[in-house]
Amino acid sequence: MLIIDSGIGGLSVLNNIKKELPNIHYIYMLDNEAFPYGKKRDNFIIKRMIKIINIIKKNYPIKIVILGCNTASTISLSILRKFFNIPIIGVLPTLNTAIKTTKNKIIGLIATEGTINSTYIKKMIYQSSFRYNIKIIATNELAKIAEKKIRKLSISNAKLKKIFNPWILLPIPPDTIILGCTHFSFLKIEIKKNFYNQINFIDPGEIITNELKKTFCSEKIKKNILLCSKYNKKIKQLLFFLKKYEFKKIQEINLN
Ligand code: DGL
Repeated sequence: MLIIDSGIGGLSVLNNIKKELPNIHYIYMLDNEAFPYGKKRDNFIIKRMIKIINIIKKNYPIKIVILGCNTASTISLSILRKFFNIPIIGVLPTLNTAIKTTKNKIIGLIATEGTINSTYIKKMIYQSSFRYNIKIIATNELAKIAEKKIRKLSISNAKLKKIFNPWILLPIPPDTIILGCTHFSFLKIEIKKNFYNQINFIDPGEIITNELKKTFCSEKIKKNILLCSKYNKKIKQLLFFLKKYEFKKIQEINLN
């Protein structure tokens, strides 16, 4: 199993997978050289995903790919599925669970600019906006805050509040928030603090395991490997956090 993200976000997806499939082995592609994906053009994301999958597939016997990233999934999933003949699963924000969960009928969707501007999300919003009150925040900053938190660097609550102000200042803020970026799963406590009302989080990375169980066939990868696109200081700062994922090898791969 190969999991791809621009940073630590996909690790929140991996956490969910490991809960259900504790013995699974994985290659985690941390494309830090291209972080943040949220700012990149669609074409860049599509080409980057194709490149990453092709290079890794040549060197490792991967049988399934998980896009542990909403930005990559909303922009490239349907194209990648046509391009490759191995199963590819993506993390995609959906409204179903949020609709069932919300009590005040106000749903928040927060994601990167890339995700919010994707055709996938535009269609989803267009089809539902007549019936549901959906509030949207597009931000490329929150993923950066999550990256800092995981590295135990100080994070600014003022910055976080500024991101959520459009909802905080509403007469009735959303009671249900769809976390449309896998990075945001690491910030649930910090986000909650900004609201006086009860918040339910919908995390698309939590439901991916059902799909994975359906598709998963026995794998050939026998150890966990972390690949990054730039082995730099920022990766070194992560090593402590990465311990629990038991990577036997950490290696830079050249994507240029
Ligand atoms: N973790 C990614 C997502 O789920 C993207 C963060 C970024 O690189 O902008 O959208």
